[in-house]
Amino acid sequence: MSATTTTFAQDIDRYGVIGHPISHSRSPFIHGEFAAATGQRLVYERFDVPPESLTHFIPEFFAGGGRGLNVTVPHKEAALQLADLLTERARLAGAVNTLAKQDDGQLVGDNTDGAGLLKDLAALSIAIKDRRVLILGAGGATRGILAPLLDAAAASITIANRTLARAQQLLAEFSQHRPDATNRLRLAAYEDLHEPFDLIVHATSLGLSGALPKIDACVVSPTSDAYDLGYGADLTPFLLWARQHGACSSHDGLGMLVEQAAESFALWRGVRPNTDEVRRKLRATLDLKS
Ligand code: ATR
Repeated sequence: MSATTTTFAQDIDRYGVIGHPISHSRSPFIHGEFAAATGQRLVYERFDVPPESLTHFIPEFFAGGGRGLNVTVPHKEAALQLADLLTERARLAGAVNTLAKQDDGQLVGDNTDGAGLLKDLAALSIAIKDRRVLILGAGGATRGILAPLLDAAAASITIANRTLARAQQLLAEFSQHRPDATNRLRLAAYEDLHEPFDLIVHATSLGLSGALPKIDACVVSPTSDAYDLGYGADLTPFLLWARQHGACSSHDGLGMLVEQAAESFALWRGVRPNTDEVRRKLRATLDLKS
């Protein structure tokens, strides 16, 4: 889709989300709710942008008066290269999920995913400080949440991945930026996990496919919280598994989705929307489909 196909009154600030595919995105609903609740006048659209069109689309959107974009799969890494400036958290994540046009014309790339996770964990009263965290997966999603979890004073973070070399590479790159954190970071193959963790975060792309990383149930204890970055109408396979093995709580990533959006909205508009009502409405729309 072209960045300029839709015509709006000149005085309405334009935002949107780019991805491929994008039809499933809930971001227009979320940002529409935020705008209504905070009295902000803006439009927010979905744009299906194939990878080969990205380098054209982004400059065209902003040259045409666009103020901000959310960036989702598969563009988060590529968008990093197209920003004029990066926030520290985007640099550490190696990915951008929010682009914002500044008044001086520069395009800032930010990453609000990790902050969104932290806000959601706080809303759920799930502590991070001094707790032993296990992250399953070592892809882009893990990259985005690593620094925020460390900064929230996790006692340790173990990254387990099917392909150990990929986790090793992630850790090596991350440690260059954050040498202070290396003593709290560990790596493990799935089959080498033999002890319980306080917080277990599922961050693989297996999603709702029904498959699960092959890990021993001993990682779950009665005091373990389980969190899946994915979400759906039904309990995700990982959360079902965690519940079956006695986790004290299990939550999907719908709250994180709303909270990362609120962080983007605050960056763009300078006002942080209340998220309670949107979380409730979004959950209700999912329940309707189940
Ligand atoms: P994302 O941006 O969602 O993190 P990604 O960067 O492609 O996506 O990373 C996908 C993650 O899911 C990786 O940790 C990947 O493990 P590998 O590095 O071993 O590929 C994990 N994953 C994908 N399919 C998997 C499967 N069938 N079993 C176990 N892990 C899987």
